[in-house]
Amino acid sequence: MVKWTLNVICICGSLRKGSYNRMVMNALPGLAPAGMSITEAPAFSEFPLYNADLQESSGFPPAVQRLAEAVRAADGVIFNSPEYNFSIPGGLKNAIDWVSRVPNQPFVGKPVALQSAANGTLGGGRMQYDLRRAMIFLDALTLNKPEIFIGNCSTRIDAKTGEITDQQTAVFIRQQLAAFAKFIVRLGPRS
Ligand SMILES: Cc1cc2nc3c(=O)[nH]c(=O)nc-3n(C[C@H](O)[C@H](O)[C@H](O)COP(=O)(O)O)c2cc1C
Repeated sequence: MVKWTLNVICICGSLRKGSYNRMVMNALPGLAPAGMSITEAPAFSEFPLYNADLQESSGFPPAVQRLAEAVRAADGVIFNSPEYNFSIPGGLKNAIDWVSRVPNQPFVGKPVALQSAANGTLGGGRMQYDLRRAMIFLDALTLNKPEIFIGNCSTRIDAKTGEITDQQTAVFIRQQLAAFAKFIVRLGPRS
């Protein structure tokens, strides 16, 4: 018997239409345990570059407020992101920087899980270490294991259909989502 409805949002670190990380994100509802709803977070593609002067003169842009409120309202946040130059893609880091300046910043105590798909063999592992560090500073609670690194992603995901064709990858994701549900419940979901 499922006692909870867990409202989980995903933040995709890639902006491109044919993104493998977006394909993984779109596959998550079909791999989630009972009681976990997974939806996409409001977009960060229109965020200006973070500039404290802009924040001071004009406040937080509405798109920043929308993402911050969605993070605040969620029981958990999943990042689906590629690795750019061994680290966090600039657009995603910029989004985190904006949200981190919102009063009562919403990542405090927030359960977070990380997933990455990359064409390199390490599957975005170096990006995840940097993202974990950013989440530490924001006092988010990032799930330790299982980890999801989808290396050589173009061989495991069908670029035409968006389907995860590698069954082992799908199994790992199911396991992580199940562990994430337990992690959220242990910490006490919001709903
Ligand atoms: C600016 C840039 C930097 C990249 N750096 C890395 C990297 O450090 N490690 C890696 O595995 N792949 C790297 N790649 C290749 C990405 O893994 C590949 O483009 C992947 O498909 C991007 O994710 P997406 O399909 O979700 O957009 C880089 C790609 C770009 C555009």
